Amino acid sequence: MEKVKTAVVGCGMISNIYIKNLKNLFSIIDLVAVADIDPAAAKEKAECYGVSRVMTVDEAAASPDVELVINLTPAYVHYGVIKKMLEAGKHVWTEKVMTVTVNEARELCALAERKGLYLGVAPDTVLGAGIQTARRALDTGMIGEITSGLAVINRNQSLNAEVFTFLRGKGGTLPYDVGIYYIGALLCLLGPVKSVKAFGAPAPAHEPQFLFRNAGAEPWQIPGCGVLSASLRFRCGALVSVLFDGNTVNASQHTLTLFGTRGILKVGDPDTFGGRNTLLYADQQECALPFTHGYDGSNTLYPTPFDFYGHRGVGAAEMAYAIRQGRPNRCGREYGLHCLEVLEGMERSASAGETVELDTRFAMKPLKPGYYSSFMGGLSRADAELSLKD
Ligand SMILES: NC(=O)c1ccc[n+]([C@@H]2O[C@H](COP(=O)([O-])OP(=O)(O)OC[C@H]3O[C@@H](n4cnc5c(N)ncnc54)[C@H](O)[C@@H]3O)[C@@H](O)[C@H]2O)c1
Repeated sequence: MEKVKTAVVGCGMISNIYIKNLKNLFSIIDLVAVADIDPAAAKEKAECYGVSRVMTVDEAAASPDVELVINLTPAYVHYGVIKKMLEAGKHVWTEKVMTVTVNEARELCALAERKGLYLGVAPDTVLGAGIQTARRALDTGMIGEITSGLAVINRNQSLNAEVFTFLRGKGGTLPYDVGIYYIGALLCLLGPVKSVKAFGAPAPAHEPQFLFRNAGAEPWQIPGCGVLSASLRFRCGALVSVLFDGNTVNASQHTLTLFGTRGILKVGDPDTFGGRNTLLYADQQECALPFTHGYDGSNTLYPTPFDFYGHRGVGAAEMAYAIRQGRPNRCGREYGLHCLEVLEGMERSASAGETVELDTRFAMKPLKPGYYSSFMGGLSRADAELSLKD
């Protein structure tokens, strides 16, 4: 299969793990260039990871050597970057969230469709070993019909915005920045949501605390709801309670539990690729499920400080195979749009005090099982990459 010539746009924190993985793990990707609005940032990553070309964003858009753009810019600039690249005829993979409003996302989806281009959207943690194993457990009926669920995550998002400064802008609240992993996982496991009812509270005005990073900084308030408590009715019938609290402390109480007619599945942390799932049946001991899929987040090929971020890039690689095979990709534009419609629906319901009905839909096929081997420092990939190819 011909490799897909790819450029990364946005050379900040998360680009470290993307560039390392795109260069080493996925034989379908040919990483030809990196670009950033700040040329020094692009130059630094090119030198650090051995990428042969540094481009400006306009050069990447105009280059016939680039087929696929991987957008790793902050959420509030996604719309402009994605639009520019689609208009230039590039396929686009974007980090989450697709944009910061559903209206912008709808416009980009329509543009991609009109141009016959792929638009793929993170979170791609849903293609990791943890969530794909959970999906297999559900698809094979291990807990019967899902009746309900519970999803919880908490942090001190305003404090975290001191270090990750892009979080101070639109799309920086905990629901958009981290809750999205829980929404993505729920969608992958249960399908589309029909309606949403929620209560919310704003993020606090935040006084800078890490003075060494914030000398002279004014207080800020992340726009949107810092806390959202919601009920989601899925089209499959499941009722799921969601609590995202960004106004508390950084002692994360991750919970993602699905209750079924035959058993209970405790799903591993969806903000990682290798969250372990456990199964509960009546009158038996809780039991851990072995992974049925690869991409468990273990990154053993020459260690870097960013390996914690796991197998990011797997969604872009799966999309590259989809491009060559002429089939829909799993983390496609409809998935990205629906994720955003759920998040925005929760905020709209909280401010209007009404139930919000959602109108977008999506479908996501599970991956074939595939094993990721850490043998020989991860160079031996076993059949995990084959699982990305239909
Ligand atoms: N940091 C994380 O832990 C993390 C984890 C997963 C996903 N993400 C997502 O990845 C994306 C980037 O996050 P990050 O932490 O790398 O942010 P960052 O601020 O470290 O890096 C963003 C980069 O984008 C560049 N940029 C800004 N505007 C641009 C534009 N218009 N054109 C080209 N380049 C532009 C900046 O110069 C910077 O180098 C966000 O969507 C975020 O939600 C971040």
